[in-house]
Amino acid sequence: MLRAIALFASSRRNGNTGQLMDRITKELEIEVVDLGNARMSAYDYEHRNRDDDFEPLMKRVLDFDQIIFASPVYWYSVSPPMKVFLDRISDFLDLPDLLNDRRRLRGKQAYIVWRRALVLILHDSMQPATIPASDWMPKGLCKG
Ligand SMILES: Cc1cc2nc3c(=O)[nH]c(=O)nc-3n(C[C@H](O)[C@H](O)[C@H](O)COP(=O)(O)O)c2cc1C
Repeated sequence: MLRAIALFASSRRNGNTGQLMDRITKELEIEVVDLGNARMSAYDYEHRNRDDDFEPLMKRVLDFDQIIFASPVYWYSVSPPMKVFLDRISDFLDLPDLLNDRRRLRGKQAYIVWRRALVLILHDSMQPATIPASDWMPKGLCKG
C-alpha cells in the first residue's frame, strides 16, 4: 500500500485550503504537516541554513510514496511557507552529501487541482493517484 503525507501551508488553518485538505486527509487517514510551523529560511546559495527544519523534514517526506502539497493561490503562486519549501528542494539538487536522498525524488509525479486553493499531488509515476482528480473538486467547500 502506498503511503501519503500532506504538506499544508495557508495563513488560515480553516479556510478553503484547510477544509479541502482536511476532507482529503480524513479520507486517506494521513498525516498533515503545517509548513507554517516549521523553522525554514529562504533558499541560500551558500547553504548557511542547513541547521533549520527543512532538511530533516524533507528527508521524512521522502519516506512517503505520495506527497500532497496544499496551498492557496497567493498572487498566482503558492503561499510563502510553501514557496520556501519548494525552493529549498534545490538544496537536495545542490549538495553532494544529499545525493542519495536526491535519488529518492525519482519517480514522483505532480498533479495540481485548484479552485482559488491549490492542491498539488506528487506520487510514484508507476502508480495511479489515490483519488482521481475529478473526486477532489471542493463540491461546495470553497466559497471564498
Ligand atoms: C495575499 C493573497 C493573494 C491572493 N492571490 C490570488 C490570486 O492570485 N489568484 C486567485 O485566484 N486568488 C487569490 N487569492 C485568493 C485566495 O487564493 C483564496 O481566498 C483562498 O481561498 C485563500 O486560501 P484559504 O482559504 O486557505 O485562506 C489571494 C488571497 C490572498 C490573501
